Amino acid sequence: MKKQWWMETVGYQIYPRSYKDTNGDGIGDLPGIIEKLDYIASLGVNLIWICPFYQSPMDDNGYDVSDFYDVDPLFGTLEDAKELIRQAHDRGIRVILDLVMNQTSDEHPWFVESRSSKENSKRDWYIWRDGKKDRKGNLLPPNNWASFFEGSCWNYDETTGQYYMKIFSNKMPDLNWENDELRKAMAEMAKWWLDLGVDGFRVDAIAHLAKDITFRNSKMNVEPGHFAPDWRKFSNRDRLFDYLAEFHDDVLAHYDCVTVGEVGGGANEKEAERYAGLNTKGFNMVFNFDHCWKNGAFGDEGRTVGKLTTDVIDLKKTFERWILGCEGKVWMPQYWLNHDHPRVVSQYGDPDEYHRISAQMLGAVLLTLPGTPFIYNGEEIGMTNVDYDSVDDFNDVWVRNYVPSARKRISEERILTHLRRASRDNARTPMQWDDSENAGFTTGKPHLKVVGNYKKINVRNQENDDESVLSMYKRLIQLRLHSDLKDVLIYGKFELIQDNHPDVFAYRRYDEKNEVIIIANFRDRNVIFEIDYDSYDIVCSNVKNSGCEFMPYEFRILKAKGG
Ligand code: NOJ
Repeated sequence: MKKQWWMETVGYQIYPRSYKDTNGDGIGDLPGIIEKLDYIASLGVNLIWICPFYQSPMDDNGYDVSDFYDVDPLFGTLEDAKELIRQAHDRGIRVILDLVMNQTSDEHPWFVESRSSKENSKRDWYIWRDGKKDRKGNLLPPNNWASFFEGSCWNYDETTGQYYMKIFSNKMPDLNWENDELRKAMAEMAKWWLDLGVDGFRVDAIAHLAKDITFRNSKMNVEPGHFAPDWRKFSNRDRLFDYLAEFHDDVLAHYDCVTVGEVGGGANEKEAERYAGLNTKGFNMVFNFDHCWKNGAFGDEGRTVGKLTTDVIDLKKTFERWILGCEGKVWMPQYWLNHDHPRVVSQYGDPDEYHRISAQMLGAVLLTLPGTPFIYNGEEIGMTNVDYDSVDDFNDVWVRNYVPSARKRISEERILTHLRRASRDNARTPMQWDDSENAGFTTGKPHLKVVGNYKKINVRNQENDDESVLSMYKRLIQLRLHSDLKDVLIYGKFELIQDNHPDVFAYRRYDEKNEVIIIANFRDRNVIFEIDYDSYDIVCSNVKNSGCEFMPYEFRILKAKGG
């Protein structure tokens, strides 16, 4: 395998809306990211991924783009974007943007044209179909496919009396990748940003570009009046890989860039090779969701009740399946969460009693797995899920679509419990910089309420504390990128140890020269984990301890003696 610069990086994902506001409008902006570049550099990361800041009506916080070539005034200007790229590069930090290729906003000029008439030259850039009629003559969508954000994946448009496809919100019409001109336009846009100096892309919703173009009904069993969540109809379809190969040849092959496709929950590790095999014309890596969806983080309301108990065997086997399935074939990104998932310390750790220790343990796992680790902003200080006491405090488009239908089924309290565990807003609250009003994020009214624990959990507190979550993340990043264990941690092989241990996630990373063992207790109680400790030295840990009894959420990174 040829070593690449992006294998030797630690990424840091920034959700610009919630990172740092410099103009007091309650929304984070690009000058805010520039202001924090020294902080970002102090973490030791060498790559940032910035979520969309293009012009957008913000129905889905920027994933509904109305102009790919400009920055939304909420976030700043194109000059700010250039300055951000320049200043990040000055600090040795590469910058990747979120490339949104599956859909645009309904306010994008392409769609405005497309919807204007059936004859318009951009009509075919989107997916338009006639509706159907039921026995009583009522108009129905062209088929029974569900959208990811509730309801049908079609929306009726009165101008021409047809439906357009939208697998996310009504304001996010899907692009028609079968159209040659559209594909060329997307390639041009990606080149434009690469020419401007960005180092690559996280490619949004990439699994969905190709649809089943028969548009036949799904045969999935659903209750009458409901739509079928049959994601295969628009996920990982063969035709998609033709588009990706073309995009690779037209765009990616001409730049020294990195690409991470978001393939979500639909693709497995075998399909990952089709997207990002080391010898495939596609992307360099793909994000999967399999390990992020446990503990009620996703799915039905029933799974978000009661105390969380991680199924550690299931969790580590999920990692193992991906890591061994990809070994030698696909380079993986590793991450605990992004802006679509709950906070990891609330999901697999303990946000209260063992906050510090459990957040550090999760960081240790992330930064010692094979692949390129991505830290999500705020994770490095152990930010937690929200403590909101009203459904109205949430703001995500998914929540806005979900709540009206949920109110017909379950109590307000149940909805609130569900959202506090599963909502995407958990990860989107303002970054907690210090203990001043609004956590130092804004001088105005923040677009989402700050989590109540900011006086305790914030960057300033942790920067001055050698024992903090933040200090541990910095140490772990140094260990991964700059220590004598760098090679084994980045390129070494992976093997679970005692894979059926119910409480501990332990594994070995090894190459010809070194052997490193990582042992992580996922329980809030002492557990026993036996290996021959005399043969190893402790390289890093979050509790002063030795022997086979592990304290709650304790981790140890061990190195073989003489190695
Ligand atoms: C995945 C993004 O991460 C998510 O935030 C967004 O809602 C959908 N794609 C649609 O673009």
